[in-house]
Amino acid sequence: MNLLRRVIREIRADVAAARDRDPAAQGVSSFEILTGWAGVQALLAHRIAHALHEAGVALAPGAIAYLTRSVTGVEIHPAARIGAEFFIDPGSGVTLGGTGFQRGKRHPTLGDNVTVGSGAKLLGPIAVGDGAKIGANTVVVEDVPPSSTVVGNPGHPVKVEGRRAEGPDADWIHLPDPIAEAIKTLAERISKLEERLAELDGGEAADGDDQGLRPRTGRSSAGG
Ligand SMILES: CC(C)(COP(=O)(O)OP(=O)(O)OC[C@H]1O[C@@H](n2cnc3c(N)ncnc32)[C@H](O)[C@@H]1OP(=O)(O)O)[C@@H](O)C(=O)NCCC(=O)NCCS
Repeated sequence: MNLLRRVIREIRADVAAARDRDPAAQGVSSFEILTGWAGVQALLAHRIAHALHEAGVALAPGAIAYLTRSVTGVEIHPAARIGAEFFIDPGSGVTLGGTGFQRGKRHPTLGDNVTVGSGAKLLGPIAVGDGAKIGANTVVVEDVPPSSTVVGNPGHPVKVEGRRAEGPDADWIHLPDPIAEAIKTLAERISKLEERLAELDGGEAADGDDQGLRPRTGRSSAGG
């Protein structure tokens, strides 16, 4: 009985959270949210699956999770612990998972009031601090400080405590391109070698005799 009361209380809080956090749910009835919001349905089913899992019931929690995924597109492991007022929208594309086949705690722990953008991947036993925002498509493999905004792959903070992240690695938008740098250096070196070769050849190379370094024209021996 206590279990049922707890589940009903959590479902009420989840519906209220959807109304609070989704601009599209303003003024919408609880019945409509329960029947039309896939994220809320997934959460509702998870509350039941999780309660059964905790009560030691076999098979049913996994079956509920499987059916929920088929209907809503949201897969939540029955063992996952989800706090109150959690809201999922639209509910597919985000992954909270492990990085490999290691044992023990493998999944992330999210604090309160965390926003995770669509397509984001949070991998490993990392901690995401209260109030953090994870940008769409961000890949997070390290702890996220509270009240920070993290974007990119790998995820990096662009804001911490409301201020822009500072330091030598803070400008992730204008990253150097090491491959382009290497090609530029090689091109400069080849140019110098060509000049030197032309000098040694006494100007003959300038007459078109430098077959080694300039692109060949005409029919290729490889055909085509
Ligand atoms: C990244 C995101 C969380 C930022 O949200 P926000 O409320 O603007 O966050 P903040 O105000 O804390 O931070 C914004 C700062 O991050 C920067 N920022 C955002 N995305 C960035 C990126 N990809 N690379 C670098 N900087 C970025 C902005 O330029 C801004 O910096 P500024 O204030 O110095 O100009 C948001 O853009 C996002 O991706 N939300 C997910 C939305 C989503 O998934 N929608 C689908 C729902 S169906």
